[in-house]
Amino acid sequence: MTDQQALLATTADAAKSLIAQQVAELIEAGNPRPTVGLVPTMGALHDGHGALFQQARDENDLVVASVFVNPLQFDQPEDYEHYPRDLTADLELITEYGGDIVFAPSTEHMYPGYPAGPHITVSAGQMGQMFEGASRPGHFDGVCTVVAKLWNILMPPSPAVFRSYFGQKDAQQLAIVTRMAKDLNIDVEICPVDLVRAPSGLALSSRNVRLDDHGMEKALGLSKALHYLADQATQGEPLDVSAARDIIRAQENVDLDYLEIVDPETLTPLSDEQLAVPLEREALALVAAWVPPVRLIDNMLLAP
Ligand code: PAF
Repeated sequence: MTDQQALLATTADAAKSLIAQQVAELIEAGNPRPTVGLVPTMGALHDGHGALFQQARDENDLVVASVFVNPLQFDQPEDYEHYPRDLTADLELITEYGGDIVFAPSTEHMYPGYPAGPHITVSAGQMGQMFEGASRPGHFDGVCTVVAKLWNILMPPSPAVFRSYFGQKDAQQLAIVTRMAKDLNIDVEICPVDLVRAPSGLALSSRNVRLDDHGMEKALGLSKALHYLADQATQGEPLDVSAARDIIRAQENVDLDYLEIVDPETLTPLSDEQLAVPLEREALALVAAWVPPVRLIDNMLLAP
């Protein structure tokens, strides 16, 4: 809303009152239905977050960011402990990206008594157990719990419109939170933000910095396989998923975890019968592979 430093709130009450105050100011200034865009983050912000903030800034009167390292979504305690935390740097970047309000609560504020529990209150159900969820048990239950809490805390008062921004890069997370909002009748509009690719085709990720030139070259197998499938879909041909998997496996030392074609809303894999004929509606190709020393994920919407 302004060019000033983003305002920091560390408690739910303080965040709620800042949002209510700014919404009231917008209404008083003649905007009958202000829009509020939330960008939920775990901090450690980098340019990859820029696209989320850019879209939220372009589409809303007020941009709210949350910075909270959610312990419930880490399956390895040491990953949680070593997760980078630098609120001062995050605040500066959020201000640069045009954020107006930052909600950065403590763990104790979000989960009183933590680590004593239980704290998981929302289950991602079956959608959270497949693909990324299969290798990270409980991860998506943790994501759903914190996102539901953040929405409840940061939802602006009526008549403001509430939107929440998620990257298409984490396609499973996006599908799960979209489903959660619908299932729980939460009045929030989910806004997907397109995945950003390097000119080589590689999906941008903070993990890419750990790849050397050979690794980068091998990682390109993922986007090549996805483009191969996308081309087949647009040309009205049945999808040759085995050939797409072979594109990835042809790279030495690359270990394919999964490459599946799924329904974009339910993440249900398409059956062999559905794959034997040209696609009838949009599908999503999901892929994950180890390209030492990192595990990469990528995805592409396939349009018939
Ligand atoms: O995508 C992330 O950074 C996290 O999963 C989210 C949505 C901020 C929840 O902690």
